[in-house]
Amino acid sequence: MSDLQDLELIIRSGTSILFIESDDEKQVETLFERLSIHLGRQLHRWTVASGLTNLHTNQTSHLAIKEPSRILAELAGRTPPAIYMLMDIHHWLDDPLTLRQLKEIALGNPLQTLVLVSHDAEIPDELRSLSTRFELSLPDKSTLNHLLQSEIREWGRHNNRNVEVRREVIEPMLSNLSGLSQRDAKRLIRNAIYDDGMLTETDLDDLARTKYRLLDDTGVLSLELDSAKFSQVAGLKNLKRWLEQRHSIFIAEQPPRGLDLPKGILLLGVQGGGKSLAAKSVAGSWHLPLLRLDFAALYNKYYGETERNLRESLKTAESMSPCVLWIDEIEKGLSTDVDGGPSTRIIGTLLTWMAERSSRVFLVATANDIERLPPELLRKGRFDEIFFVDLPDQEVREAIFHIHLSMRDLEPQRFNLDKLTEASEGFSGAEIEQAIVSALYSSHASKQSLDTAHILNEIKQTRPLSVLMAEKISYLRNWASTRTVNA
Ligand SMILES: Nc1ncnc2c1ncn2[C@@H]1O[C@H](COP(=O)(O)OP(=O)(O)OP(=O)(O)O)[C@@H](O)[C@H]1O
Ligand SMILES: [Mg+2]
Repeated sequence: MSDLQDLELIIRSGTSILFIESDDEKQVETLFERLSIHLGRQLHRWTVASGLTNLHTNQTSHLAIKEPSRILAELAGRTPPAIYMLMDIHHWLDDPLTLRQLKEIALGNPLQTLVLVSHDAEIPDELRSLSTRFELSLPDKSTLNHLLQSEIREWGRHNNRNVEVRREVIEPMLSNLSGLSQRDAKRLIRNAIYDDGMLTETDLDDLARTKYRLLDDTGVLSLELDSAKFSQVAGLKNLKRWLEQRHSIFIAEQPPRGLDLPKGILLLGVQGGGKSLAAKSVAGSWHLPLLRLDFAALYNKYYGETERNLRESLKTAESMSPCVLWIDEIEKGLSTDVDGGPSTRIIGTLLTWMAERSSRVFLVATANDIERLPPELLRKGRFDEIFFVDLPDQEVREAIFHIHLSMRDLEPQRFNLDKLTEASEGFSGAEIEQAIVSALYSSHASKQSLDTAHILNEIKQTRPLSVLMAEKISYLRNWASTRTVNA
């Protein structure tokens, strides 16, 4: 397990304070139990409820100290090399005394390691130079398989009969469990086995549903079930070609030499031009899960905790890789705040992740409002490419009519597409779709079947955004001409 090796290295190199952000204390404990044996050090755990316990001897020290400042004073005086796991200490990290004590222990005794475990591990500035943040990686497939097999055996022992296992469900089950903490994975495995002593296809459905609920407990990241296909998107030829050229490289186990793994694109453009649709179609066409990250929710709901939630969401996305991560209207959650404000930090967190990650998560971000986009995001090299989605030209409008009529079981041949295409000059894809939908209503009301005249009538009654916002659109187009590639 590589977490173990990484931690060993970190501790041997003399790091005295380790911040571990995890909801799964049991997993952290198991890891450190193994680590402490490797390192030949004692392992202790402190919690405010039960004081200090030596986990090797299971003895709670007679002190049973429940105040952090007293426990830290006690630790400062101890010399034998040891690892101390301090649970939930983040509650006291705004106390100057606690901070000072942590610092003194870290500076005073290089053989003591303090492991600060909590669900929220923001490192205070004072401790930054003395500490390291460590994120536990989620269990990998073989660990999950281990877990599954041991739960199967366990159930068998208790019930004096074997779990009935459909072989073909094991593999998809393990894939479905990936991305979950050990604790959650175990819970889901038990759910699946304990109801009927069987592991079958029905368990897979339940598992998928429960899993996404678990992943989505922040409401920030969600699995989008309705991805689209390129064939549902008219136009955007350059974008489609670009994506087609990179598909095989993205899903390859090992990208060909000299070619970098595609990282992501930004789609900028006019409203209703099909940006969101195009984003969804990347996942559909690449046959990958589509995860949507709601920036606005992230920002509103977790004021002050936004970065942590973003990091967590990104980690979850990584654990589902290969996948497409879609951030729609990326500028919406970002206010143009002064330096150092939450938006700046969110963008910082996102940019760092984009630069450092090696996992196969393809980011597709969309935006309308360039004024509100932080310039850092547009700098070369952040995204592989920035595409501009303009209003559809004549040929593309025809294709849009074609697609949307067919989608509603209307035969495009029955309509005068030339006329419709001409009349809808300046219309976005969304406006064309809307004209068809409104025409369907009016033809239904007048008990007629839909024809070209109905749609033309709706088109005439619509003032498209390109007219209402002509200035804004021409500004956008101008701006985009030097900075983006036409989609
Ligand atoms: N190029 C297109 N091909 C087919 N349908 C399109 C196209 N563009 C837009 N549409 C239709 O319009 C709908 C709305 O478009 P979409 O939401 O993708 O636009 P958008 O660029 O994301 O707009 P916004 O900036 O308002 O979010 C799509 O779901 C689709 O039905
Ligand atoms: Mg959109």
